[in-house]
Parts: sequence; structure tokens; C-alpha cells
Amino acid sequence: MASSSSSSSSSSLSSILSIVVVLILIVSTAESVKSPFHPRDLLPHLPRQVSWPILNSLYGAADLLPTFIGTASSGNDSVDWKGACFFENTAWLEFHNKSGSEFGGGTLHIKADKAHSWTCMDLYVFATPYRVTWTWYFISRQHTVEFPEWDGKAEYEYVKNKGVSIFLMHAGMLGTLQALWDVFPLFSNTGWGESSNLAFLEKHMGANFEPRPEPWVTNVTTDQIQSGDLLAISKIRGRWGGFETLEKWVSGAYAGHSAVALRDSEGKLWVGESGNENDKGEDVIAILPWEEWWAFEQTKDDSNPQIALLPLHPDVRC
Ligand SMILES: *[C@@H]1O[C@H](CO)[C@@H](O)[C@H](O)[C@H]1NC(C)=O
Ligand SMILES: *[C@@H]1O[C@H](CO)[C@@H](O)[C@H](O)[C@H]1NC(C)=O
Ligand SMILES: *[C@@H]1O[C@H](CO)[C@@H](O)[C@H](O)[C@H]1NC(C)=O
Repeated sequence: MASSSSSSSSSSLSSILSIVVVLILIVSTAESVKSPFHPRDLLPHLPRQVSWPILNSLYGAADLLPTFIGTASSGNDSVDWKGACFFENTAWLEFHNKSGSEFGGGTLHIKADKAHSWTCMDLYVFATPYRVTWTWYFISRQHTVEFPEWDGKAEYEYVKNKGVSIFLMHAGMLGTLQALWDVFPLFSNTGWGESSNLAFLEKHMGANFEPRPEPWVTNVTTDQIQSGDLLAISKIRGRWGGFETLEKWVSGAYAGHSAVALRDSEGKLWVGESGNENDKGEDVIAILPWEEWWAFEQTKDDSNPQIALLPLHPDVRC
């Protein structure tokens, strides 16, 4: 009897135990659903052969590209945004003269808060047309990015007027690092930046670049250029590296720039071109004599411009 009672109590104990185990499992499952881990965060632990195909199915080219967040400028204007990992972010810029140089430098302050995952990191690219740098944030707190000394008057004026541009890389941990590898050189105005740009367009955008058949000369003369003809310019590198080109690819027909040929009443050829900046850093349309424009594009523009003449259709000429 005693033994039977003991066995019954042990069996009820074991059923209580199993209920507890089931409860713990349920609770822990519920916990894991809410746990701030994302499968993407775990991808780095998988072997490359497994994780890369997964990654490739997760990210399209547009996802690999950094998103423009805004510009951090001085004064009390701060830029706020929601990152992939930190939901409350603020940035502002402080000018200083720690270097005692002519134009001084600056400190970019970033406050990252409300992390949604312990393993997630937000990776940022900070750029002015004169430099590009990147960093990442794991933990919620205030961070700074130091610019010890502006690269001369031009960068100083630019940053004073326009601030430092902030781009967020969206692609989780491994994705971000892989994307950074592909994307970072796009900001650099070098042959490296240029070939990375072409490689990026080929690899991620399915673009083909076929060399033109030789001879690589054009037989168009300036006499053939008429008012209203467009001059399409592709810059594969430049101050903003390949980024300008990518902007066009990513957002379709948006080119952010146009140049049009104009003839005055005396038949003199001019070029009206948008995207120029005046002394105040405002976007203006510049009208230059053809010779000056052409000489600049041929000899001074360090962005290796590719220029195509697109004559206006005869039907729309007046
Ligand atoms: C920023 O705001 C504070 C008060 O909120 C003010 O004292 C300070 O002068 C402001 N600075 C600028 C550069 O506007
Ligand atoms: C920074 O300090 C140096 C030396 O004191 C001075 O010559 C320069 O004008 C200062 N620059 C700015 C931007 O205040
Ligand atoms: C330029 O050359 C091409 C091929 O060589 C020819 O078809 C075209 O007519 C030429 N254009 C002019 C304006 O001479």
C-alpha cells in the first residue's frame, strides 16, 4: 500500500514535472519569439557556402547600398532617424579648432538608442565630397566621429553650408560587411573606385559594359551641334565616386544633372548645365561658352566623364 501510494505520488510528481517542463518549453519558445535575435544576425556563424546563398537571396542590389539618412550640420539642427538596430538616433556636428589649423575641424556626435537586438549592429558611412569614413555601433550610447582638420577651405565651406552626409548600411551583420566591401570603394575618386563601380553595376545590377568598336574617335564636329541637343554625361568616378552613377541606376531615369547645347543669335555655341554650385553652395544652372565647357571636361574634370551627344529629334525642333 505504502509502496503503491509512493509510486502514485512519484508518478503524479513526474507528471507535475513534465507539465513544468512543457510550461518551461512554452515559456522559452514564447521568449525566443520575442528574443531580440534575428536570423540574419546568426548568419555569420554558418559556413560561407551556406550563408552566402542565403544572403544573396535576402539582399538585392538596392539593399546593399547605403541609405542616405541626412546631413548633420552645426547649430541646434540635429538629424533624427530610425536605424536597422537602433530605433532612436540623432546626430549633430560641432566645429572645433583642436588642431589650431586655418579652418579647424569638427566632431560629429551620434546618439544611438533603443537597440532592438543585442547582436545587431548599425553600420554607417560618413561622407563629405572630400573624405569618406565608416564605423559601426553595437551598443546604445553616444558616439563621436572625429574630423581633426578639414581638408582646406573647400571642405570647410561645404561642411558649414551642407553638413556631413550620413549613410546607413542596412544589411544586418554579415550582409553589411560584405556590402561594405563592395560599396566602400564606390565613394573613392580613384581608378579603384571607378573599377569597383563598374564591377558593382555588373555584379549587382546585371549591367553590361561592352567596349565600343575602334577607332575610338568621333567624327561629330561642333558645327553639327544645334540648340536643344542634349549632352548626356556619365561620370563613373568623381568627388562622390561612383555614388552618383549608382544614384542614377538605383532610381531609374533620375540623373540629377543635365547639359544642353544652346546657340545664340550670332550662332555662338554655349552649354547650359545644371548641378553647378555657386559660392554659397547653392545649386545653380551655369551657362558656359562651349570652348570653356569642353576644355574643362577634356582636361580638368577628374571624374573621367563619358559624354554622348543626343541630338534633338528633327520633329521637335522649331
Ligand atoms: C542651441 O540651443 C541653446 C538652448 O537650447 C542655446 O542656448 C544656444 O545658443 C543654441 N545654439 C545655437 C548655435 O543656435
Ligand atoms: C584656429 O586656430 C589657429 C591658431 O590659433 C588660428 O590661426 C585659426 O584661424 C583658427 N581657425 C579657426 C577656424 O578658428
Ligand atoms: C561618321 O562616321 C560614320 C561611320 O564611320 C558615318 O556613318 C557617319 O555618316 C559619319 N558622320 C558624319 C557627320 O560624317
